[in-house]
Amino acid sequence: MSSEIGLIGLGTMGSALALNIAEKGFDIAVFNRTAQVTRDFHSEAGDLAERITPTETLEAFVGALAEPRAIILMVPAGEIVDAQIDALRPLLGPDDLIIDAGNANFHDTNRRMRAAEGPFLGVGVSGGEEGARHGPSIMGGGQRTHWDRVSHILEAISAKYEGTPCATWMGEEGAGHFVKAVHNGIEYADMQMIAEVYGVLRDGMGYDAARIGVVFDRWNDGPLRSYLVEISGKVAGTTDPATGGPLLDVIVDAAGQKGTGRWTVIEAQHLAAPVPAIEAAVVARNLSSRRDTRADGEAFFGAAPKAMPSGTLEEHQLEQALICGKILCYAQGFTMISAASEAFGWALPLPDIARVWREGCIIRSDMLNDMADALTQNPAQNLMFAPYFADHLKASHNALREVVAAASLHGSAAPALASGLAYFDAMRTARGTANIIQGQRDYFGLHGFARLDDGSTDQHGPWAG
Ligand code: 6PG
Repeated sequence: MSSEIGLIGLGTMGSALALNIAEKGFDIAVFNRTAQVTRDFHSEAGDLAERITPTETLEAFVGALAEPRAIILMVPAGEIVDAQIDALRPLLGPDDLIIDAGNANFHDTNRRMRAAEGPFLGVGVSGGEEGARHGPSIMGGGQRTHWDRVSHILEAISAKYEGTPCATWMGEEGAGHFVKAVHNGIEYADMQMIAEVYGVLRDGMGYDAARIGVVFDRWNDGPLRSYLVEISGKVAGTTDPATGGPLLDVIVDAAGQKGTGRWTVIEAQHLAAPVPAIEAAVVARNLSSRRDTRADGEAFFGAAPKAMPSGTLEEHQLEQALICGKILCYAQGFTMISAASEAFGWALPLPDIARVWREGCIIRSDMLNDMADALTQNPAQNLMFAPYFADHLKASHNALREVVAAASLHGSAAPALASGLAYFDAMRTARGTANIIQGQRDYFGLHGFARLDDGSTDQHGPWAG
């Protein structure tokens, strides 16, 4: 019997997604470059094996699929995707659909879609292995008619928020992979802000890892309730079986990255969309990996983080600072999506984006439901001005200021929180300081300026001296 869908690439994410598809009642054919991987996958699939057709050549794989075919690629992003498409296309009919569900750069997806000799979708999938296996958040891009052909499968396997599937078509071309990249940029910033608060608790307030875990656990019962705060509590609270001490304390402080956060920042610059929290997070990851230089710096200048006198900060100020930073970071992410929507003519559905992020993905949190509500009421409004979030910001920005100030005074680097605060202050300063930049530009290059008093434009000096 022919399978309704096929999947190529049985790595961690591909295997989990294939099992999820089979579990939801769809017959699936699978193929992996190394046949032994396919055999092992099938033999370990238990009751689900009967829904799975393992194949060992691309020809057999294509032959096992019902026409018109739908094939998910779950191979590493980059040239491997192109190579896989090149190998597959000659074996396919004109209506057969290829779905790239890896973490592709959306520019690659745009290019592939234009070059595609048949239907092609670029689909962002978030949630790690657990999400892929039991319900990821899915962001689709490409022609709507192509999405509609497989949406019943993608919705069935997706996470559900109070019964609503977290799988949505975002728009044409690479819109799905673009939204996934911004998701990852926000993921980086969320993680970085948690890391900065961890730094204050550890170095400034002298908490040990277990106590920090308890703080995160408690925050996860309040407005910060989210997957990332939840797992931070678990990570901080884990004991190392080898030493009996906290596992966190023996982990090397150099963060890895596969590039999606960087893509977000590069694209934000192209769009002139301010996302300082995401930029700070990417920079912080880059700096984290320069361990030798940091050690040299500590030997040269003395260690930066210092203990804070007791009473400098209370836990609730850190919680409020994180709430404030998080709102500002998401406000930046959503305004970047708005800018892209306009620049690329995609009509990206902002409220739906908040909705598909409510469950399944790495940045899922209670706050995203409130963001979905706010964006439904006014999709064009920066989230920081939405009444619900404006009230939160009014209540929490002083705590953010106190945390950033104390961190700075005691040498604890908090670039994402500090950039959030600077964004907040800049966004509520009607009379900024760029007038002097305009003066400088006109002084050295006759670039011209506009006058406040009479509204005239393209004015010049004369400048003194
Ligand atoms: C997700 C994640 C995932 C990402 C990892 C690692 O949404 O499931 O974003 O797609 O690959 O989080 O990313 P980095 O290696 O860049 O940290």
